[in-house]
Amino acid sequence: MSIRPILIHPDPRLKKLCKPVESISPEIGKLAEDMLVTMYDAPGVGLAAPQVGVLSRLFVMDCVKEEGATPRPMVLINPEIVATSDEVNTYEEGCLSIPEHYAEVTRPARVVMRWTGLDGQVHEQEFDGLWATCAQHELDHLNGKLFIDHLGAIKRGMITRKMAKLKRDKARG
Ligand code: NI
Repeated sequence: MSIRPILIHPDPRLKKLCKPVESISPEIGKLAEDMLVTMYDAPGVGLAAPQVGVLSRLFVMDCVKEEGATPRPMVLINPEIVATSDEVNTYEEGCLSIPEHYAEVTRPARVVMRWTGLDGQVHEQEFDGLWATCAQHELDHLNGKLFIDHLGAIKRGMITRKMAKLKRDKARG
């Protein structure tokens, strides 16, 4: 298991439509393990493959945040939303690819998702609360969409300019 570097916005790889995973190969297993350790290390509650530069439809999440609670790592391969609630929820979202920027995003409060697990089986589950927000945020990543794409153009532009400057400063050392 190894921690992989997380891409920071703006990066063209974060804007790409990711390709379906063809088979649950050992490489996919390794990628999922690496993504989980990278997410826990960050720390974050979700991480999508494009954030580590792999343009495949796969994300990991664990929204158990209570101190001392048993972790619940999940790996979702080729995830899709099969149903959404009419009821919405607004959460202050952040993203490991957009460090230190947060903004309120409104999304369906509950979603039913279907995906393939590392066991090769198809799973279906309803998520609510933070899990629902996280699952939708991560699925967006697989379609080249970031949480700032849910914001107005002015706010999005402001965050993007700040991030671009941060990356330039970092590159300069
Ligand atoms: Ni994100």
